[in-house]
Amino acid sequence: MKAKNNGRYNGDGRHWATPPEVFDPLHAEFDFTLDPCATAATTKCAAFFTEADDGLSKCWAGHRVFMNPPYGREVYAWTRKAREEAANGVLVVGLLPASTDLKWWHDDVIGHAEVRYIRGRVRFLTDGPYRASGFFASVIVIWGTK
Ligand SMILES: C[S@@+](CC[C@H](N)C(=O)[O-])C[C@H]1O[C@@H](n2cnc3c(N)ncnc32)[C@H](O)[C@@H]1O
Repeated sequence: MKAKNNGRYNGDGRHWATPPEVFDPLHAEFDFTLDPCATAATTKCAAFFTEADDGLSKCWAGHRVFMNPPYGREVYAWTRKAREEAANGVLVVGLLPASTDLKWWHDDVIGHAEVRYIRGRVRFLTDGPYRASGFFASVIVIWGTK
């Protein structure tokens, strides 16, 4: 049966990768050095952490970080980590769902980060030949300063 579109991220795209039309202009602006949630195939930076490394448990100091984390419940740990790293001077730029009603948004984004709204839906890269558009709006969240 076809899943119902509830307008919210539904957990299917845990590994969906960031497309170049989103990443490249941000990289030109911020010159990222670390992708803390990646695979060897999808990393956006030479320095990266995989799930086996657990990027959440590592220190991100000294890096300019691009973060497209797994969404769903896992996202809470990543936005909290981004806020905490930014408090220690680390720049973290996240590609995230625009979940303005959720606790992580209120705890970690409002008053802590700049938000840039993306026009249209992001067409994420999948393992296969097709791209996937989420049933949700995406934003760029910027913690810290350049
Ligand atoms: C949405 S994908 C993003 C991939 C890539 N960074 C990009 O932007 O295209 C999120 C990735 O985070 C990885 N991941 C999940 N938990 C992680 C953890 N604790 N530490 C590091 N990577 C993790 C998953 O394996 C998945 O490939």
